[in-house]
Amino acid sequence: MTLALNNIGHLVTNDPTIGNGPLGVIGNAGLVADDDGKIVWCGPQDQIDQHTELQPVNCEGRAVIPGFVDSHTHIVFAGDRALEFEARMTGTPYSAGGIKSTMMATRAASDESLSHNAQRLAYEALCSGTTTLEVKSGYGLSVADEERSLRIARSVTSETTFLGAHVCPTGIKQEDYVDLVVGEMLNACVPHSKWIDVFCDRGAFDVDQSREILNAGAKAGLGTRIHANQLQEGGGVQLGVELGVASCDHCTHLAEADIDALSNASKTTVATLLPAAELCTRSPFPDARRLIERGVTVALASDCNPGSSYTTSMPLVMSLAVISMGMTPDQALWSSTQGGAQALRRTDIGNLCSGSRADLVVLDAPSHIHLAYRPGVQQTRAVVRGGKCVVGVL
Ligand code: NIG
Ligand code: FE
Repeated sequence: MTLALNNIGHLVTNDPTIGNGPLGVIGNAGLVADDDGKIVWCGPQDQIDQHTELQPVNCEGRAVIPGFVDSHTHIVFAGDRALEFEARMTGTPYSAGGIKSTMMATRAASDESLSHNAQRLAYEALCSGTTTLEVKSGYGLSVADEERSLRIARSVTSETTFLGAHVCPTGIKQEDYVDLVVGEMLNACVPHSKWIDVFCDRGAFDVDQSREILNAGAKAGLGTRIHANQLQEGGGVQLGVELGVASCDHCTHLAEADIDALSNASKTTVATLLPAAELCTRSPFPDARRLIERGVTVALASDCNPGSSYTTSMPLVMSLAVISMGMTPDQALWSSTQGGAQALRRTDIGNLCSGSRADLVVLDAPSHIHLAYRPGVQQTRAVVRGGKCVVGVL
């Protein structure tokens, strides 16, 4: 055994069969993980002796939750867009065009500095409790620069996503760029990628181009996901559902037919909401409560990128989801952990069931409600990944 915790005041397991309510909460709980970093037991603390010979760490009544699964980030980039942010705050609208300025900075950066920036942001995320991170390319937009972005992403996570179809760079015709993405660029990127994504929106790629790109990725063995309906209503969500993508992300502007489609596809396709992007672009928040009431499976993610959402904080995202999108604290916790895992089609993370990875956060708080209730406050006492304490103290 490698880890034993007891005197957990409030343990969120996300397994309703072993605890109370939809989050499977156990009060006065203990937890044990093995040498492989997997959970072997959690339950009432007075039973812990039957499951380990270790002297358990006393959590002194703190809450423990599964580590956050942030299923949507763009952390391989150089430079920042602080001036664009400043201009936006005095009225300049957000557009897909800003991506090109980050592309220029990214192409000009060395491997070392790109890698350093991605590691820095992954560590920042870890410190606020994110134990699994999806990372996209999409600021290289040439064969060599997308390939190296994904190589760098791979050094941070196994959940890497080829997003050559972020925008069409200046100086190449859109149809020629789509040919490049589905041809040479895809071939170069497949070895470093698990997923393919496309930005299907105004100023980026249309529905037919997006279909061609996602189909090419699927044929090459990649899982599919889509940026859909961020800037306006359009066919992105319905295309995603038609293709059975793991996740339609953003979903800011939805028609009734989009909600119906997501609801009918709730076992296959997750709607991943990114409220920090709405916050930072002063866009309307999607009505998460309505989606959940209609049976849509909802995940929450940070969308960390230098343009629309320069934050790694899942606790902030949960606050926004609860305060501005009508989610309950329980729903926000589920969507940030198990929902994110489902968006990545993973069952071994996002929960603290026996056999799952011992990825968890010890909060300096008595329950997960405090994550939404205390916006912007650091409440992470310790972060455990694969059974080992990687941040803070146990
Ligand atoms: O998810 N929507 C497209 N891509 C990013 C924004 C990228 C940028 O502005 O640099 C997003 O919000
Ligand atoms: Fe994004």
